[in-house]
Parts: sequence; C-alpha cells; structure tokens
Amino acid sequence: MKYAITCLLAAGLLAPAQTPQARIKIDTDRTIGQVHPHVFGNFAEHLGRCIYGGLYEPGSPLADERGYRKDVMKAMQDMRVTLLRWPGGNFVSGYNWKDGIGPRGRRPVRPEGAWGSLEPNTFGTDEFLDYCERAKVEPYICINAGLGTVEDARQWVEYTNEARDTEWARQRRLNGRDKPYSVKIWGLGNEIDGPWQLGHKNAEDYTKFALEAAKAMRRVDPSIKLIASGSSNFGRGADWIAWNRAVLDKLRDEIDYISLHTYIGNRENNFENFLAASADIDERIEIVEGQIAAARSGRPNARPIYIAYDEWNVWYRAHGNTEHEIGATRLEEIYNYEDALAMGMFFNSFIRHADSVKMANLAQIVNVIAPIFTNKEGLFLQPIYFPIAEYAKQRDLMALDLFVQSPSYTPAGKRELPYLDTSATYDAKTKTVYLNVLNRSEKLDITARIESAEGMPAASADVWEMNHADLKATHTFGGDTKVRPVTRTVTLKSEGGHPVYTFPRHSLTILRLKL
Ligand code: AHR
Repeated sequence: MKYAITCLLAAGLLAPAQTPQARIKIDTDRTIGQVHPHVFGNFAEHLGRCIYGGLYEPGSPLADERGYRKDVMKAMQDMRVTLLRWPGGNFVSGYNWKDGIGPRGRRPVRPEGAWGSLEPNTFGTDEFLDYCERAKVEPYICINAGLGTVEDARQWVEYTNEARDTEWARQRRLNGRDKPYSVKIWGLGNEIDGPWQLGHKNAEDYTKFALEAAKAMRRVDPSIKLIASGSSNFGRGADWIAWNRAVLDKLRDEIDYISLHTYIGNRENNFENFLAASADIDERIEIVEGQIAAARSGRPNARPIYIAYDEWNVWYRAHGNTEHEIGATRLEEIYNYEDALAMGMFFNSFIRHADSVKMANLAQIVNVIAPIFTNKEGLFLQPIYFPIAEYAKQRDLMALDLFVQSPSYTPAGKRELPYLDTSATYDAKTKTVYLNVLNRSEKLDITARIESAEGMPAASADVWEMNHADLKATHTFGGDTKVRPVTRTVTLKSEGGHPVYTFPRHSLTILRLKL
C-alpha cells in the first residue's frame, strides 16, 4: 500500500466541532516519487474552437504577427502549463500532416472525419512547434495510427528532427526552419482501442503497427520517447485490462509510457458520488502499475515504463453540433465550482502515484472542454483554471505518502471512501510541505489533527482555499471573479501538541506548512 487510509466510522462525525475528527500524519522520509513537471501538461486538438479561434486567430487585434492569440498564450503560461499534446485526439486518426506544411495559400481545406468540421490546415506542424517555442512548453506530437501509415510517421520525425540534408529536412528548411525542432515526445496513436476511432484496431493489429512505427521513427531519431495508446474504452463489454496487457506485452521494449484517458461527469447530480471518481482513477493507475511490473518482471535491464494520463477532465454536458464550418463550436463545457474541486481530486491521485504517473494532460487548453474560454473580444477563466494553476507550483517536488484517518462514506457502487481526499509534496530546500486536501463532504466541516514525524510544524501556515456556497456557480465574459481562490496566513490552533485545521465542507485547500 502506497499510502494508508483508515476510515473512521461515520458515527465519529457527531463529535463536537473542534474535536479533531481526522488525522493526517506527515513523514518526509516516506517519499513516493518526484512530481514530474509533465503532470501539468495540456492538450490542443483540431476540434471546434480550440485551434482556430482559440490558440490561433490571424487578423484578430488580440493576436501577434503570427496569428497566435496573445491573451490565450498568457493565460496558458499563467496556468504554468509545461507541455502541449497535439494535433489530437480523435482528429489525428484522419490527419495527414503533409497537408499542414508549406505556403498557407496552397494548403488544402478538407472535410475532417472525426468531428465533422472543415480543416483549413493553416495551423500545422511548423506553427505548432513555433508556438511551443514561444510559449516555452514542451511539444508532444501524436501520430496517426488510425488511417495513417508507418512511413507517414517516420517522415514526420524526419521533418521535425533530422539535421542532415535529407528530403524532409530540406522541405523543413524550404518552409523557413533550418534548425531541427528536436521533438522528444511522440504518441503512437490516439484511443485506438475505441470503436469510435477512425482506423480503430484490435490489440493485435495495433501492436503490430505500433512496433513497426516505433522502429522506423527511432531509426530517424533514437532519442525520442514513445507513448503507446493504452486504454480509453472503459465502456461495458470492453476489456480495457486485456488491451493494456497486450500493448505492454508486445511493446515493452520500445515504449516509455502507456497512456490512460478518463473523463468524468456529475450526470446524476450527486456531488459526493461525483467526487468519488478518485476510486476509479486510483484503480486504473494501480492496475496499470501492476501490468507494467508484470511486463518488466524477470528482466533486469527492462526498459522503464511510466503512465501518461494524457487526456483527463470533467466532460459530460457539451458535445458536437451540426455546423460544419471552420471553428464551429464543439464540446464547449461551461464549468462550475464542483468541477473545480474535481481538478484537485485528479491531481491528488496523480501525486499519490507520482512514481508511475509521469505525465498528465488536461483535455483541453482553450474553448473545447477547457479552462480558458474566448470570444473575438477577449477571454474568461473558468473555475477549473485556478486549482490547475495552483497545483502546478508543486512540480518537481517530492510526493509524500501520507497516513490519513478521516470520516468516510460509501458512494453508490463503490467501496468506502474517506471524505478527505489528500496528497502532499515536500520541498526539501525550503522545508515546506504542501498538504492538498479536498473535503468532498457536502455537509460536514472536518477538523484534522496534523501530525508530523519531524515534530511540530511552524505555528503559522499559508492557506490557499477554493470554496463557494453554490456548487453550480459558473463564470462568463466580464464575470469571472465569482469562483476564485482566497489566500491567507493563519496561526494554527494546537491540540495535544499537534496543530489542528478545519477543512470546510465542499472545499479544496492547499496548506503550506514549514517544518
Ligand atoms: O478530448 C476530446 C476527445 O476525447 C478526444 O479527441 C479523444 O481522444 C477523446 O475521446
């Protein structure tokens, strides 16, 4: 067990307000792993208004000379995004990257097969990689393992990474870029296990394709890191575990990561059940960790393989529509306060598994199921923006294995869960612990005694808190200050030689404690 959680009986909740009902024990020797910066990655797909009208809007007074929306880039940087996955998503399984290079006036406009829009191809490989350089984020390109070919994938790496005078490197130079882009992270397809995917394959066909693609791509650049298309299809009748087993079994000598995708939603309008999704996220990670261990067992020089949670978010309200124009609206979720709390739940799970989850990409960056929402005049920040930006301050820190006792509940169809969903990181340089606590009880404030193996933490702590009386509160243009975090410094009360802190009902708190 990586971290221990013992659930107190619900009867314990009847204790007087200041009596600690929960215990959180911190021990900085009990480390899990470094929180990799790529856990704060993001995703930009050619879908709806994510690229066209989101990242890229040539001619807009808000765009720079290359057509990149400056306000969007700034909001992305302020959210501390480290990495950007592109060009899809489902889109990539019908995408020909060669349509998106060269003089823009000669690039073809094509009907797009995944979402039913028109793709103008005015934003392509050079624009994406240039954008990443300007925004100072690591690029991650996902190849077309649906309708595409091994040779397309190989040539794509040649176009971006080849330094010598080869056909595709020359093409890149003709298009204005001499120096190779040296793209390090490549995905071997998107959601190939899903019947909705163009070029969907069974595990045998996928692994044959991916193995050959990996070989060919590495012959061009042996330094690239590869992500296998792991499970995304958790629907009834789909054997997601068998898919991963086959992928790991066949690709274990070639891949550096296996992907997982998860979207959640509060379809039954039940707050506590909605925030019980951590049980599924933890379970999926832990099953894949076991599968990775099995694939590597008995092989002393086995390649390390990590988990790339390369699509995750809340998504259940907004879907496609029947418009077929460039930049038609699609998947434009308007997020509310309870969705913001779900961000903390996802990050807590990633941090609790910091030794295996080395990448996580929120889907997506702007307009399409996104924290940033634009129109022609500007943008607003959705409530989910703020926890993402705050957790990202914990990049590179050491995740700690907490011991937690908390009042509990049993959500429908799930095992008993603690109301306090937690994670922690440690900054050894400043001797600071970041304690991340989601109180997912709708009704109960929970007081916790904070114990530390290093002795009493400093009496004062910095608090970052998101809380709102209306779980459904949303933002809009000109009105995005309603659901915002507050920060304060508090003097912690002490009880029996330990500080105590009360985590308000339905809130997300990050406590910064000095040891
Ligand atoms: O992010 C939206 C879509 O969700 C992506 O295109 C696909 O990979 C997933 O099903």
